[in-house]
Amino acid sequence: MTFKPAAWPRKLRSQTWFGGTSKDNIYHRGWMKNQGFPPDLFDGRPVIGILNTWSELTPCNAHLRDLAERVKHGIYEAGGFPVEVPVFSASESAFRPTAMMFRNLAAMAVEEAMRGQPMDGCVLMVGCDKTTPSLLMAAASTDIPSIVVTGGPMLNGYYKNERVGSGTHLWKFSEAVKAGTMTREEFVDAEASMSRSPGSCNTMGTASTMASMAEALGMALSGNAAIPAVDSRRRVMAQLTGRRIVQMVKDDLKPSDVMKKEAFENAIRTNAAIGGSTNAVIHLLAIAGRVGVDLTLEDWDRCGRDVPTVVNLMPSGKYLMEEFFYAGGLPVVIKRLGEAGLLHKDALTVSGESAWDQVKDVVNHNDDVILPADKALAQSGGVVVVKGNLAPKGAVLKPSAATPALLTHRGRAVVFEDIDDYKAKINDEDLDIDETCVMVLKNCGPKGYPGMAEVGNMGLPPKILRRGITDMVRISDARMSGTAYGTVVLHTSPEAAAGGPLAVVQNGDMIELDVPNRRLHLDISDAELAARLAAWKPIHPLYESGYGWLHQRHVEGADTGADLDFLKGARGNAVGKDSH
Ligand code: FES
Repeated sequence: MTFKPAAWPRKLRSQTWFGGTSKDNIYHRGWMKNQGFPPDLFDGRPVIGILNTWSELTPCNAHLRDLAERVKHGIYEAGGFPVEVPVFSASESAFRPTAMMFRNLAAMAVEEAMRGQPMDGCVLMVGCDKTTPSLLMAAASTDIPSIVVTGGPMLNGYYKNERVGSGTHLWKFSEAVKAGTMTREEFVDAEASMSRSPGSCNTMGTASTMASMAEALGMALSGNAAIPAVDSRRRVMAQLTGRRIVQMVKDDLKPSDVMKKEAFENAIRTNAAIGGSTNAVIHLLAIAGRVGVDLTLEDWDRCGRDVPTVVNLMPSGKYLMEEFFYAGGLPVVIKRLGEAGLLHKDALTVSGESAWDQVKDVVNHNDDVILPADKALAQSGGVVVVKGNLAPKGAVLKPSAATPALLTHRGRAVVFEDIDDYKAKINDEDLDIDETCVMVLKNCGPKGYPGMAEVGNMGLPPKILRRGITDMVRISDARMSGTAYGTVVLHTSPEAAAGGPLAVVQNGDMIELDVPNRRLHLDISDAELAARLAAWKPIHPLYESGYGWLHQRHVEGADTGADLDFLKGARGNAVGKDSH
């Protein structure tokens, strides 16, 4: 830790709006006074933007207005001036064609909201999947002091006295209906049991993973990730976060001071230990690209390789976030990494303490939820990166969610040209497929879907499910929900819509998946592959206008984080052309 706090007091950026007596100062300050703010709030104290992704159409974040009040308490207590600002909220459960298409749009909008308005520091109020990375990307690009507070997970779901995990049981019940072991009426009956309180998905899905990533990166206070949304301690966390951001502004503790390469390596290892979502790969690559850290897919494979998955949560394990909190939450996991020599202990966090100092005294209260290393769900729990002629720039797989016997597999390709083709064929009893086949789904990548939907864990054909078979090797350029499971190769790069080799796989081709040797191979000759690629043409037209036009022409591959090419990098907080 080499951070040296800045001298205080000093003039803050908000004073270029609110300080002084010019016409512009009076314009900026005077209009704010229509809300009844006392004059001393404009006296040079830190102005803190509470960037709130509250939306009634982002149900996982629908309680964030209430939580923002607690953040305000903390900011006032510490001598700051809180201003709550609604920002773009991309709901995972409601946004079409997919929330991921709008992560970059949200990041762009929030970045400009931070830079263009009088904010000296920001509290990033997030929860649902894309809200966390989009605001972290914005904070990285402006480098304005920022701290994350998440909304917290929903309480445990139960149906017929069994734990029901958000998303995970949606897939399970849906497959059970297809297999004929659950009725449609039971499925509908189970619906409300999955979502019985405010908060984000209660599994170790993408929201819980990204909350954990924010904490492991050092961008949230220790313990933030797991506190249930409705627990009174979530409000305490919000208030403490409000207090802390004021001091961060005084110290000038910026995202670039915290999000160093070491912090990203801590986060990658944490992701392996928690059995986190593959979506974290894309989001951390994108955040790193904004803050100027050279992070690659290879870093994911290298750092995650020796880390056992010890958090026994769905979709890989059996418990839910509520139990993770009771067991001690993420600090216990980070302490475990530190004890195993897998943590950059000195990494600075937003608390001002090191990653190690803030966890070294925590205790695991339930070793069936946070398992001993010798009882880990997977000894090598990290996200695996496979490469080969089918994925020259890599593809990812989550071993802890896969069937071990399928991690080395050779099978006949059954190809779906896009998600509509899949939907049209998958229920056909005459589809030429058995459990040894490899299901291949194309044109679902960042450019293709567009937006890279979470369809990579495509359901198995009913005729196979009815025989009690629940997993097959599946390969696509899509993503997979963090709540999902299976032997699923994702993010295949380059994607089909960009002319990657995935685009030219044909029915009947043989495909080899060899996870131990990190290989994904299409068993055709180099000459045949080259001839097919030369003859390839995209099957979908591009958008001709609107944000879709911008997205499809500028989105990069999943292997580098699927950011828009012109948004990469930090642009600082200076207003106007100096920042671009
Ligand atoms: Fe919002 Fe899962 S759908 S967190």
